[in-house]
Amino acid sequence: MEKKPIVLAVAGKGGVGKTSLAAVMVKLLVEAYPDKKILAIDADPAVGLSTALGVEPTLTLDDIRKEAVEAAENGDARATVEVLGEARYRIFDCMVEMDGFSFIAIGRPEAAGCYCKINTYLKEVISTIADNFDYIVIDGEAGIEQINRRVMEKVTHLLLVTDSSKKGCDVVKTIKGVADNLVMYDKVGVVVNRVPSEDVLKFMDLGDIPLLGWITADANLTERDLKGESVFYIPTTAPIVGGMHAVLRKLDII
Ligand SMILES: Nc1ncnc2c1ncn2[C@@H]1O[C@H](COP(=O)(O)OP(=O)(O)O)[C@@H](O)[C@H]1O
Ligand SMILES: [Mg+2]
Repeated sequence: MEKKPIVLAVAGKGGVGKTSLAAVMVKLLVEAYPDKKILAIDADPAVGLSTALGVEPTLTLDDIRKEAVEAAENGDARATVEVLGEARYRIFDCMVEMDGFSFIAIGRPEAAGCYCKINTYLKEVISTIADNFDYIVIDGEAGIEQINRRVMEKVTHLLLVTDSSKKGCDVVKTIKGVADNLVMYDKVGVVVNRVPSEDVLKFMDLGDIPLLGWITADANLTERDLKGESVFYIPTTAPIVGGMHAVLRKLDII
């Protein structure tokens, strides 16, 4: 039987906690499944997942993509096809092996404005390497772009993250609308982060999107943030860990 990896991705407005929640998911998966192959992808050009996971990033996907483009432009004797084929192989050079998981980062494309080329490459990368893993967690860029560009096409579990703001909810509903057509997800839902109290939830309009869970403001996270330490140091009793554990249970992942 063909094995299909579980691909979890976070999406939502900037600053709502996507990177923090993605990092905590990696931590929970690593702890629950020490024998499974887990991959964390930092797909946000703003970068952040590496710090949250305590990874020292080295080579990024954008470095590799640039090398390939340069080789082709400099009229490298080899056929462009070969250079691109090599770029595929070089993907594995970007992978950092950590205790219990692998990590790869998209990097910061320098060409101002448009990330479309790196997004096309990222999509290719995800389909190339996906089958080598059991669980993949993608920390996406804020907003809708990567959904639109089908980078998230292979995502099986789409976690829409928002705070309790109307703007955050609007972004989540917009993303869901686009994802319904462009993402082949099995499950989708909202995680509300930094909720002042549970009462607030009933005033939030999330449309028809199921609520997967909610997380209060968590001082543990603030403290780790301050020190620049990874989420692996956050205690199991922390609201963000308990909250995400409940979300993963609800999705039948843990
Ligand atoms: N539940 C929470 N409690 C306290 N601080 C939080 C919480 N969730 C996120 N943060 C903090 O908010 C900031 C933005 O979070 P981040 O995960 O980087 O958001 P995003 O990736 O969506 O931009 C970070 O400093 C993070 O530590
Ligand atoms: Mg982020």
